[in-house]
Amino acid sequence: MGASRLKLLLLPLLVAALLFAASRGPLPQLLLLRAPVLPGDLLPLLPWPVAQPLLRRLALRSPADLLPAFVGAARVPGGDGARAAEWKGACFYENRAWMEFRDANGTDGGLGGGTVHLETTKAHSWTCMDLYVFATPYRVTWDYYFLGREHTLEIKEWESKAEYDYVKHNGVSIFLMPSGTIGTLRALWDVFPLFTNTGWGENANLAFLKKHMGATFEERPKPWVSELNPDDIQSGDFLVLSKIRGRWGGFETLEKWVTGAYAGHTAVCLRDSEGKLWVGESGHENEEGEDIIAVLPWEEWWEFETTKDDSNPQIALLPLRQDLRAKFNETAAWIYAEKMNGKPYGYHNMIFSWIDTISNNYPPPLDAHVVASVMTVWNKLQPDYAASMWTEALNKRLGTKGLDLPEIIVESEKRGMTFDKLLTIPEKDNWVYTDGQSASCVAYVLMMYKEAGLFEPISSSIDVTEFTIKDAYILNFFEANMTRLPSWCNKDDTVKLPFCQIKGRYRMELPGYNAMEPYAHMNESQYFSCTYHGRSGIFSMMHTGLPRGTINFLE
Ligand SMILES: *[C@@H]1O[C@H](CO)[C@@H](O)[C@H](O)[C@H]1NC(C)=O
Ligand SMILES: *[C@@H]1O[C@H](CO)[C@@H](O)[C@H](O)[C@H]1NC(C)=O
Ligand SMILES: *[C@@H]1O[C@H](CO)[C@@H](O)[C@H](O)[C@H]1NC(C)=O
Ligand SMILES: *[C@@H]1O[C@H](CO)[C@@H](O)[C@H](O)[C@H]1NC(C)=O
Repeated sequence: MGASRLKLLLLPLLVAALLFAASRGPLPQLLLLRAPVLPGDLLPLLPWPVAQPLLRRLALRSPADLLPAFVGAARVPGGDGARAAEWKGACFYENRAWMEFRDANGTDGGLGGGTVHLETTKAHSWTCMDLYVFATPYRVTWDYYFLGREHTLEIKEWESKAEYDYVKHNGVSIFLMPSGTIGTLRALWDVFPLFTNTGWGENANLAFLKKHMGATFEERPKPWVSELNPDDIQSGDFLVLSKIRGRWGGFETLEKWVTGAYAGHTAVCLRDSEGKLWVGESGHENEEGEDIIAVLPWEEWWEFETTKDDSNPQIALLPLRQDLRAKFNETAAWIYAEKMNGKPYGYHNMIFSWIDTISNNYPPPLDAHVVASVMTVWNKLQPDYAASMWTEALNKRLGTKGLDLPEIIVESEKRGMTFDKLLTIPEKDNWVYTDGQSASCVAYVLMMYKEAGLFEPISSSIDVTEFTIKDAYILNFFEANMTRLPSWCNKDDTVKLPFCQIKGRYRMELPGYNAMEPYAHMNESQYFSCTYHGRSGIFSMMHTGLPRGTINFLE
């Protein structure tokens, strides 16, 4: 329609003019002075390297101004007293937004969808535009508005009942993006879907891993859930999971990429003295939604993973080698399992160990600014997780208490520290978080192996806290003789994997599987992805010294 055609015509011209100006050194004063072509208004259209010096010249009040700002939630007016959200934008001074639900079409029994209405008026110049991010915990989308009128954003169909309920109750959150951040938006576009619990999010995870890790994700023949016989599973058998959807999927994707592991989660099988099969897992979500260490009956765990786990996990069972099965001391393993039962999973440590790695390398599309933007949107949508994940850890780094993210950025800037510097302040051993100290993921399993005697006789010179998931599955602890694998193992797959994939649409890859003889001091002073007893990888990272990036929050 007219508006978009106008945009199409106008924008390239303006961009070209500005690029030209920018390429010739200092910006012509003329451009800065002659309204209504305000360069600030064009920032959203410019590539980041061009927009950035401009942005600084335009005298930002504070670096926190670069973060997306929550302006309101579009809700259904009426009902429980909800009114249209109203706010002042950067370009349009008067804006209103509200939500309209659309019923499902009779026969398909779906949830229907909705429309976000957004009215923009009182633009301060004819070239300006406002950039918005619209988010629910299930989707993120963005748009920009150039003309003062009523705009609509269609949501074709709610992803799930949960999203429908969320929007009924909380509305769709609207964030105004600061000018100049279209680059950030593009990056968010790459990263945010990793965390959404949709088919779209799943594809984003697969695409990210294919692109950045060279993973293949070949589809395997059905059935995607094995008809396995639990009688063939023994104490010490290792479970590796690769989650590709939702919150866990997103974390795992980033973690896999950072650590080079092709799996993002682990658990271990354990038989009790009566022969009943259990699964020990660090990172199990209990009924209160907390992630803890737990020992669950096999049936319960398997039923959850095959029917309820919304992260669509791909799962492989790595059976222990015969001689190690014989060596495995169940009594000692149970003592350890009982000691750890119910302890919390170390969220903040995990997040920080990879944020740290990222901020040391900042491979595109991530930089500290994108990290901060993701945090901002997340803070709004899932405040509980946000608190446990980063605000507490960032406060600790500043020696403050209870500051929220923008306050943290302002405070850190006051002390002359850029945000990415703040992210890389090392964790201290004696910091205790409100949820206590914790063990996570693979450290839990390997610690149990150590207790059970699998690392003998070099046990005393193995520190499993420094192992990544990859370091665990490359150990030569597993059954290498294919004829000894259970008969149901990979029965219907044409490709015979050296381990048993028991669930998943995509064939799992574990490069280097079952090849490494453990040796004394293996993986000592390495950074690690899973942490144990309140330590994080950051400190050792500082010493192993991956190449430092130079992208600062404002530079
Ligand atoms: C549902 O109904 C609306 C209006 O009644 C229509 O515009 C839309 O195309 C329908 N959607 C489907 C999937 O049939
Ligand atoms: C197994 O571990 C228990 C508890 O640590 C110990 O008492 C027992 O001697 C161990 N058994 C063997 C065979 O080492
Ligand atoms: C593999 O296991 C089978 C059955 O236990 C055994 O007969 C065979 O000798 C083993 N092969 C090797 C190479 O160890
Ligand atoms: C751990 O040790 C193994 C074997 O030496 C090595 O291949 C691996 O890269 C190490 N892990 C890390 C994270 O450096």
